[in-house]
Amino acid sequence: MATIIALTNQKGGVGKTTTSSALAAGLFSFHDKKVLAIDLDPQGSLGFSLGLDIENCKTIYDVLTGQVPIREAIQETDYCDIITSNILLSGAELEFTSSDRDLLLKKALIPVKSNYDYIIIDTPPALNILTVNAYAASNHLIIPMAPEILSLLGVSQLKETIDSVRQSVNPNLNVLGIILTKFNPRTLLAREVKEMAENIASQMGTRVFANQIRTSVTVAEAPAHGLSVFDHAPHANPSLDYQEFVQEVVTRTSSTITQGGASNGQEK
Ligand SMILES: Nc1ncnc2c1ncn2[C@@H]1O[C@H](COP(=O)(O)OP(=O)(O)OP(=O)(O)O)[C@@H](O)[C@H]1O
Ligand SMILES: [Mg+2]
Repeated sequence: MATIIALTNQKGGVGKTTTSSALAAGLFSFHDKKVLAIDLDPQGSLGFSLGLDIENCKTIYDVLTGQVPIREAIQETDYCDIITSNILLSGAELEFTSSDRDLLLKKALIPVKSNYDYIIIDTPPALNILTVNAYAASNHLIIPMAPEILSLLGVSQLKETIDSVRQSVNPNLNVLGIILTKFNPRTLLAREVKEMAENIASQMGTRVFANQIRTSVTVAEAPAHGLSVFDHAPHANPSLDYQEFVQEVVTRTSSTITQGGASNGQEK
């Protein structure tokens, strides 16, 4: 049964999509895992960055609105299977009105969950019906943060949303960790932000991942080639850092499983 992980932060541009794409590709490339990546952001960047056309295909919108079975929306890439998204999904807040509106993704995943080791969900920069669907369907959340003071604001709203999902539809939701992205270790600000992130993590009952993702232009270049950061620039700092991060995700998710802990990837 797949371990389901959503990348989330309502702040824009903090590395959610970049980290989703690196995690999906890294789980396959270094750990031989079978991965389904789901783009739950109407911006559609995840599919685009893995080289897919997001306009003339079935998307997660078609799945969540019940128009196509989930298997028909899955596309294959060199790294993982993926369900793309596009701007149609931005109507979700108004269109998803059923009483199970928070559980549409969780229910949609049931027929394919056992085909994968990991399901990675990229979410929009918002706390809305789409993020709630991602939280309801997931075992774990990973919170990417950029070392900017503004990126630390709003964490209390994020925590409130997580708590409310725990109280309603997903009591076992676990925060796997905070990953610092776009990191420049030479700046004083970066070191201060790391300390602040550690405080936030302890308030949330989680940890900051041991390795930060250093900043490099190679990260912005990779999507233009439809390649993972590892294949585009294998020796660049972000590739080395993301490789360590993926290892840590595998270790943390496996230890939760062996402990039979709260978030063990099994259906309740
Ligand atoms: N380690 C890094 N070094 C340099 N640039 C980076 C790094 N990580 C991400 N970026 C760049 O920062 C920008 C935002 O990254 P990304 O799209 O992953 O963020 P996001 O949180 O998904 O944004 P949104 O909230 O809009 O969905 C992109 O242009 C990306 O190439
Ligand atoms: Mg994004």
